[in-house]
Amino acid sequence: MEMAKVVRNWWSHSKTVVLIWSICIAIYFSLLRLALNNSSSLGYTSTIDSPVSNMEQRSRLYDKMERDLDENGPAFLKHGGTTQSLSLSDIFTLKDGSVKPVHKAANPPVRANVLYLSPEYSVPISESAKQVFHPYFGKAIWFQNSSLYHFSMFHASHHIVPVPATEDEIEAEATAVGAVAEGLCPLKIVLDRVVLTSTGVLLGCWQVISGPDPVTIRAKLRSALPRAPEKQLYDDAILHTSFARLLGHPKVSSTEPSKELHVSHELVARLNSIIRGAEVVISELWYVEEYDVLALALDGRMKERRFRLGCKRT
Ligand SMILES: *[C@@H]1O[C@H](CO)[C@@H](O)[C@H](O)[C@H]1NC(C)=O
Repeated sequence: MEMAKVVRNWWSHSKTVVLIWSICIAIYFSLLRLALNNSSSLGYTSTIDSPVSNMEQRSRLYDKMERDLDENGPAFLKHGGTTQSLSLSDIFTLKDGSVKPVHKAANPPVRANVLYLSPEYSVPISESAKQVFHPYFGKAIWFQNSSLYHFSMFHASHHIVPVPATEDEIEAEATAVGAVAEGLCPLKIVLDRVVLTSTGVLLGCWQVISGPDPVTIRAKLRSALPRAPEKQLYDDAILHTSFARLLGHPKVSSTEPSKELHVSHELVARLNSIIRGAEVVISELWYVEEYDVLALALDGRMKERRFRLGCKRT
């Protein structure tokens, strides 16, 4: 009798201990995962002289961007109530039967540093994107101007953390960026994949074949522009261009959301089959003052200073 009670007590005690340990271990692993996720999203895992890990970091980032549409759903379809309405109506308007961006002044102007993709390469990409997406999206799509294809690198000032500057300070920034460009060699890059984000942005995601890694370029720009916002808009490793923004529903026989999502995936796959693997050379870094919000993306007012990548030893 006494023995049975002791065993029972011991048993319930052990169960409690096991339970407490399980909880501790579970918490430990979820904290560890959180820490790992954070370190990768902040770009701490990349080191400047390790191109392989930068490449891996980009791949992981692109995998995540690729999953975004399924994980977060096609937000660009949700807001537009009918086939006529535009989901991003605060940026675009339908005027005389065509989509026009609405320009809003950026105050203070955004100062962006971007790698520039010359029309020699951007025009064929743009044509392919139009050929695949235009039949299905008609007016519910905005195509990036092919004269302004760019890779956003580093902001001297952005809309989240504005850093006002006098004309002299702007000149000094531009000079410093010019000096960075002088020391950089041209980049040969390859289109890794095209992805469509849940917000309807059609992006090209690139890998570096030769030349400086974006992580290195951003680090050089950061030290040339010490007043720039600590927190930048993108991951240090990313190398992406925007091709188009989807603004509404595709023209398909059924307005069933799953059908529309399926068509969107199909079109991305079709564009991938045409342009994935394209190789291009980047040979210009631009310092751009954007006087309108998203001027580079929406043909707004801007002033650019163009610097050739000089490949000089510094
Ligand atoms: C595209 O950009 C170029 C260069 O800024 C400009 O001259 C041209 O007008 C733009 N095209 C459209 C359709 O806005």
